[in-house]
Amino acid sequence: MDIKQIITKKRDHQSLTKQEIEYFVTNYTNGTITDYQAAALTMAIYLNGMNEEETVYLTLAMANSGDILDLSELGTVVDKHSTGGIGDKVSLILVPIISSLGIPVAKMSGRGLGYTGGTIDKLETIPGYQTNLTTKEFMENVKKVGACLIGQTLNLAPADKKLYSLRDAICTTESIPLISSSIMSKKIAAGASKIVLEVTCGSGAFMKDRKQATTLAQMMQKIGKMTNKQTICVITNMEQPLGKAVGNSLEVLEATRFLKGTMQEDVKEVVLALGAYMIKLAGKGEDIEENKRKMLEQIKSGAAFSKYKQWIASQGGDISYLEDPAKWKKASYILPLIAKKTGYVTKLDAEKIGEIAMQLGAGRLKKEDTIKPEVGIVLEKKIGEKVEKGEILAYIHADEEMLAQKAKQDLEKVYEIGGKQQETKTVLEILM
Ligand code: URA
Repeated sequence: MDIKQIITKKRDHQSLTKQEIEYFVTNYTNGTITDYQAAALTMAIYLNGMNEEETVYLTLAMANSGDILDLSELGTVVDKHSTGGIGDKVSLILVPIISSLGIPVAKMSGRGLGYTGGTIDKLETIPGYQTNLTTKEFMENVKKVGACLIGQTLNLAPADKKLYSLRDAICTTESIPLISSSIMSKKIAAGASKIVLEVTCGSGAFMKDRKQATTLAQMMQKIGKMTNKQTICVITNMEQPLGKAVGNSLEVLEATRFLKGTMQEDVKEVVLALGAYMIKLAGKGEDIEENKRKMLEQIKSGAAFSKYKQWIASQGGDISYLEDPAKWKKASYILPLIAKKTGYVTKLDAEKIGEIAMQLGAGRLKKEDTIKPEVGIVLEKKIGEKVEKGEILAYIHADEEMLAQKAKQDLEKVYEIGGKQQETKTVLEILM
């Protein structure tokens, strides 16, 4: 077998066999196949697609490219993953709530990809928090604390790790076979038996419309079924960012406030929907509305916040930052964006806001870039909200004045204000 033949086949719209896909994954992971050959094949897949069989073979080959964790001794472990978005701090909030209900959460998350943020970058803004644990430490933390969240550092789906950053660099992220195999290979390798997936849809998501999002969700559910992992997908709206904050430490602060009881409505809708199905899959509650009530009770009683502190401390994080928001380093320039007219916010393009936040330093333009933890945007007005001329629409948090001014000009163009109030819905559909 030869990689050039495999690339040629996919370039010419032919289907690849199981053996060809396994050959590619094994030899790309061990370095025999070069990045430029993998890039050519990935672009051919992006352009010409893969059928269901090929997608399943790619997923299994990537899952088998490293270790597969056996979490059976921990009982029913439920995992959660999102296809990515702007302002998505949901994992930070869900992990402690679910764990505080006695359901173990063992999760592997990613860094920011393109204009979308990554949970690992957010968690690393908490001084001391370690995302790089050994398998033994990971398992022990889940057993002891009931929650552990690490980066893609264990030898789990290493083929996906390589391919994921390659795809980011060559603009082949937005592909249904590539996203579904990337996510499901990690979920299979990480060992949970039940999975809740958030499939985002809209300008700030990889899937721009509902039809594509549904196809992606159905593909991941099929892979889940074939690998005996019950998978529920929640399709959510990513036309505007989720919550108020976009930017790493700003999002940790928002998540922390949520766990203390100050909940932004759209974040609450997503957290409760995903969590209620995680509880159902764990066998701890059939009634979805009752599960949501239980989650809110965990916040009200302080149990979720205590679990949050216990989890962060168990991975070396300094919990005084969770207790005292004043301890966080602030950006040097915090500029308000003022409304020039009265009306209702009608559009707030999530992708454009993600790009502005990235230009401020909240995301990476190149893989090697380091992120600036404290920069980003805080949206004070979101779609459907009434705005009076002279009111503050948003704050720009920047570490250079020029960057702050440029972001302000760009954000001003993103805020569309009109005469008619629009209704927004964040959770669009549940696929069981
Ligand atoms: N999240 C992933 O893990 N992989 C993708 O390809 C996209 C989002």
